[in-house]
Amino acid sequence: ADIRINAEDIRRRKGGVPIVCLTAYTYPVARLLDPHVDLLLVGDSVAMVLHGHATTLGASLEMMIAHGQAVMRGSAKACVVVDMPAGSYEASPAQAVTAARRIVEETGCQAVKLEGGVDIAAQIAAIVAAGIPVMGHIGLQPQSVEKDGGYKIKGRTQENIALLFRDAEAVEKAGAFSVVIEGTMEAVAAKLTHYISIPTIGIGASVDCDGQILVIDDMVGLTVDRVPKFVKEYADLRSAVADAAARYAAEVRSRAFPSPDHVFTTEPGKDET
Ligand code: KIV
Ligand code: NA
Repeated sequence: ADIRINAEDIRRRKGGVPIVCLTAYTYPVARLLDPHVDLLLVGDSVAMVLHGHATTLGASLEMMIAHGQAVMRGSAKACVVVDMPAGSYEASPAQAVTAARRIVEETGCQAVKLEGGVDIAAQIAAIVAAGIPVMGHIGLQPQSVEKDGGYKIKGRTQENIALLFRDAEAVEKAGAFSVVIEGTMEAVAAKLTHYISIPTIGIGASVDCDGQILVIDDMVGLTVDRVPKFVKEYADLRSAVADAAARYAAEVRSRAFPSPDHVFTTEPGKDET
């Protein structure tokens, strides 16, 4: 049971071989990814990717816990981190600790992640003090997309760069074991990585980050909506699924499926599925 990579193992990898992270939301995908990754994030992107909501604000605590349980059942080795959904932690450190405890107790995950820097440092510190490891998330914060008026790349102005450094420092000082840097100018993400002593996990950030993460559906080419510039598609599952559906449809219509191989007849000893 202790073969799982934990938050402290991730923390120790600062400056070493890049930390391989992907999101996962389901049992079968967790099974497929677990041998290859160090960390699986049950991102609140699940609300958009699997449930079709317009933003991550569609995620609920119940949704995060259900997918967290599925990913834990499907993985044995990866450090599993579950996102705290919008509305579960911003109000107070006490609210954040209550929600984080529920996530960890009901899923068995290794850590939780929340978005923000200086503004939620007290929440990070309180969750860490309760014995739950926390991953930070700075730069572009999808839970703030409505407030920000869109998905805007961070670190373009001197003023914003100063804010990013303050956020990175606040997250580190609050006791986070690592921090996601999303949608941030490359040179700034690289400098932030050298500025703090916990691993940075980049997405639309820099190759100099201590690790990288992508949304699994984006990475395998299954995303049907527009994918951001920072995504690299390593497979084309859209085409694979559409092609399979088209061939199945043709075979059903022509009665080529099911063939004798896929039906039950009176042959002896063939009564199992
Ligand atoms: O929800 C998510 O998928 C994330 C990653 C993109 C870091 O937060
Ligand atoms: Na997220």
